[in-house]
Amino acid sequence: MATLTVLPSAVSPREDAIQLYKAFKGFGSDDVAVIGILAHRDATQRAYIQQEYKTMYSEDILKRLSSELRGKLETAVLLWMPDPAQRDANILRDSLSPGFIDLEAVTEVICSRTSLQLQTLKQIYHSTCGTYLEHDIELQASGDHQKILLACVNKPRYEGPEVDREMAAKDAKALYKAGEKKLGTDEKVFVKIFSERSNAHLIAINTCYHDMYGGSLKKVIKKETSGLFERALLTILQCAENPAKYFAKVLYKSMQGLGTNDTTLIRVIVTRTEIDMQYIKVEYHKKYNKSLNDAVHSETSGHYRTFLLSLLGPNH
Ligand SMILES: *[C@@H]1O[C@H](CO)[C@@H](O)[C@H](O)[C@H]1NC(C)=O
Ligand SMILES: *[C@@H]1O[C@H](CO)[C@@H](O)[C@H](O)[C@H]1NC(C)=O
Repeated sequence: MATLTVLPSAVSPREDAIQLYKAFKGFGSDDVAVIGILAHRDATQRAYIQQEYKTMYSEDILKRLSSELRGKLETAVLLWMPDPAQRDANILRDSLSPGFIDLEAVTEVICSRTSLQLQTLKQIYHSTCGTYLEHDIELQASGDHQKILLACVNKPRYEGPEVDREMAAKDAKALYKAGEKKLGTDEKVFVKIFSERSNAHLIAINTCYHDMYGGSLKKVIKKETSGLFERALLTILQCAENPAKYFAKVLYKSMQGLGTNDTTLIRVIVTRTEIDMQYIKVEYHKKYNKSLNDAVHSETSGHYRTFLLSLLGPNH
């Protein structure tokens, strides 16, 4: 597919496993060789490599990678290894663990994934973490933020392209009555509409809102809500409109100012590489007049940099 920056390789998983084993041997691993292989294999191939490695060397390659690699490179490679659904489950498990709570990451993952992706990752979360995702959200999130996360996770959402204009107008009116027209805000209405309506429908509501009352939903959300609840609604809206643009912005923010937020940088690059990185790169360049590759290059170093740039693919 043209959207992938990582294309299937012609090398057999068995040969890859042998080369990785060689790269691990001796004092210190050959990080360049490890990156040269793993950053250029898609999810299916990485799974086969894992199997082959286990069969040939009776060892879990993830454990080996974790003992051979260090620091941010280790974090990034270990996050890269699983397939997208398992990876999302891992991110949520880590971000919901006492001591490592990162509700921004939880919001990003839950509010940006499709309904189908959420259903799959929920099952994987349960089978690999031994607890229910809903249960962990209830424990760690609160208030309207908790309500919107649970609604997104629990209610399958229609994802077709058609739009019922009349219903969009009704929703726009309901949001107006629950927000701008009212003293205070009726958050329930926001939770319901933003968690249940399809992307196409949300875009239609936005247009109707503008036609009927002036102003955009984005402005309304910013005016009527705050904190993580605001963040969740904005993420849903922006991902309905243009997910690549949303992630370009998250990446930009992670590299803005003094220091880099590597947790976010790694998470977004690794999770989007197999989904829409080509589009994110285009949006990034359009908005910030700089290529994403150049930005990442100037904010990172060493083998960690090599790995992230390998995932990003060509700089153009
Ligand atoms: C980095 O980003 C995460 C969101 O994933 C956020 O929770 C955290 O506070 C940020 N860290 C810093 C140092 O800004
Ligand atoms: C975009 O970047 C180029 C080169 O880095 C620079 O010459 C140009 O003035 C920039 N344009 C804007 C609109 O910032």
